Amino acid sequence: MARLTAGVGSSHVPLLGVAVDQGKTGDDYFGPIFAGYEWTREWEKAEKPDVIVLVYNDHASAFDMKIVPTFAIGCGERYKPADEGWGPRKVPDVEGHADLAWHIAQSLILDDFDMTIINEMDVDHGLTVPLSMMFGSPDKWPVKVVPLAVNVVTYPVPSGNRCWALGEAIARAVASFPEDLNVQIWGTGGMSHQLQGPRAGLLNREWDNKFLDMLESDDDAARWIPHIEYLRETGSEGIEMVMWLIMRGALGKKVKTLHRHYHIPCSNTAIGHIVLEPAD
Ligand SMILES: [Fe+2]
Repeated sequence: MARLTAGVGSSHVPLLGVAVDQGKTGDDYFGPIFAGYEWTREWEKAEKPDVIVLVYNDHASAFDMKIVPTFAIGCGERYKPADEGWGPRKVPDVEGHADLAWHIAQSLILDDFDMTIINEMDVDHGLTVPLSMMFGSPDKWPVKVVPLAVNVVTYPVPSGNRCWALGEAIARAVASFPEDLNVQIWGTGGMSHQLQGPRAGLLNREWDNKFLDMLESDDDAARWIPHIEYLRETGSEGIEMVMWLIMRGALGKKVKTLHRHYHIPCSNTAIGHIVLEPAD
């Protein structure tokens, strides 16, 4: 059977993709950011996951105000990097795992989660930057990916509780897939940042680290953080952190922390990264 072996949380800042693509990951500015991912790059080489369920949000690349799915799952065979205004990133196409994705879609929908099924879409920095952070610049990504897109761009966005419960349902779906696969779930986005308005540039080291502490804990208090707290404490774009709760909800009650990293600033955001293993 398929096994959900680990969860990874990571920011997906577009500037980090630029740093990888332009070979600047070791310079004075980016060096300390990428140093915090070195442990994970070595760990991933040893873990050799077959598939990542990659929770991310689309930034008006595949979706726009014409259609705003709350939760969408990619069931296609392949996804191309999106053109976000400067041409598509020169990274490999992302290979899907259609059989697992359709299985998860069926399991989730019969579990009362009304997923939008996407068979064709381009994927933007929300999905490709975390792949670059964890796997560098290979000719071909070493894993297949089931993209899981969440609306955190247009209110109403899903509650933390709903995201956590979706993670629990994804874990049930993966555990009932008959093929022997090593599956990880990644939650991406955040941490504190606000891109516009009078509070543009807001960062909150203390709150971000409290959130990481909550993810490491055995209780599920993080699922009850209201939207207004993300907005107030972490800026308008900090709401992306609800996507980390899908990852955390999938790992069960107890987790073991394998790695954790936090750095500010990166572009106009705070960088957070955590690697967790189910410990029930
Ligand atoms: Fe984002």
